[in-house]
Amino acid sequence: MEKKLKKLVEEVSAKLEKVKSVNELNLLKSEYLGKKSVFNSFMKDLQDVPKEDKPKLGQLINQSKQVIAGLLDKTKSLIEQRIVEEKLKSETIDVTLPGVNLKKGSKHLISQTIEEIEDIFIGLGYTVKEGPEVESDKYNFEMLNLPKDHPAREMQDSLYISEETLLRTHTSPVQVRSLLENTEQVALKIICPGKVYRKDDDDQTHSHQFTQIEALVVDSSTNLSDLKGTLLFIARKLFGEEREIRLRPSYFPFTEPSVEVDVSCYKCNGKGCSMCKGTGWIEILGAGMVNNNVLEAAGYDSNIFQGFALGMGVERIAILKYGIDDIRAFYTNDLRFNKQF
Ligand code: DAH
Repeated sequence: MEKKLKKLVEEVSAKLEKVKSVNELNLLKSEYLGKKSVFNSFMKDLQDVPKEDKPKLGQLINQSKQVIAGLLDKTKSLIEQRIVEEKLKSETIDVTLPGVNLKKGSKHLISQTIEEIEDIFIGLGYTVKEGPEVESDKYNFEMLNLPKDHPAREMQDSLYISEETLLRTHTSPVQVRSLLENTEQVALKIICPGKVYRKDDDDQTHSHQFTQIEALVVDSSTNLSDLKGTLLFIARKLFGEEREIRLRPSYFPFTEPSVEVDVSCYKCNGKGCSMCKGTGWIEILGAGMVNNNVLEAAGYDSNIFQGFALGMGVERIAILKYGIDDIRAFYTNDLRFNKQF
């Protein structure tokens, strides 16, 4: 019996060497250690051996069983380890392989310019506000001193949605909204960037949609020289510290007096060139002292309150700064254009 047991252990260990899967292993396990295994016949044989040999042989049978169980366990963990290794191998990432180059987006020049201008104003203590692009006639025109039949409405060709609603033609209605929201009537200092719409045919210099930044300051003492100082500061930040500005009398219904602001040409330094059409000056924005009618319409006593406002076209600033010759380049999204900035 001893020999038989030894052979059996050898037989199992030879078979185990060939086992490849846990499944095969389980089959072997039930074959050699299960209820119908050869060990049952050994136990039966044990009945026929002399009494004094029984304990020794019984022990031997049990030991062989244990050895086989040990071999099975060892093989099992080897197989499991191999499975994990194979999985790791198949999932390994080769970090030395060249990667796929993802194209990174960048900010559009209009967004960059808005942010640049915002930063200048924020540095001066202004708060950034926003207003709706679909606006009421009342805020877009009427409360800005442009009653229904006012001829100056023709300065801005409008896209009406209904009799009383339109796509805002400028960011100036945010002046009205800010004044009305400020129920405590504390000093105001806001800017508002945003899209505006005009009933224009698109060409090199016109777009039915473009971008403006409005600024409004209202308190009890702000005067024209504050406006002038602010304008000079902004012009220098945008176009260079050597710039000068010039104010020309103009007309806007919502300001009185109104001015058109020119900056000294940054290309020829004011001598006159093709950029400034030989004048030495380039127009950059409109501004003025807030018209008393605007203050009164929003419930502010014009004997106490005064202020200034300005409005600039973001595209115009970017066109001037970066030498762009067609406003449509901002909207057609040709990546070759966009990527330059
Ligand atoms: N809203 C004017 C426009 O779109 C621009 C403007 C001019 C705004 C003078 C102002 C201002 O606030 O004071 O043509």
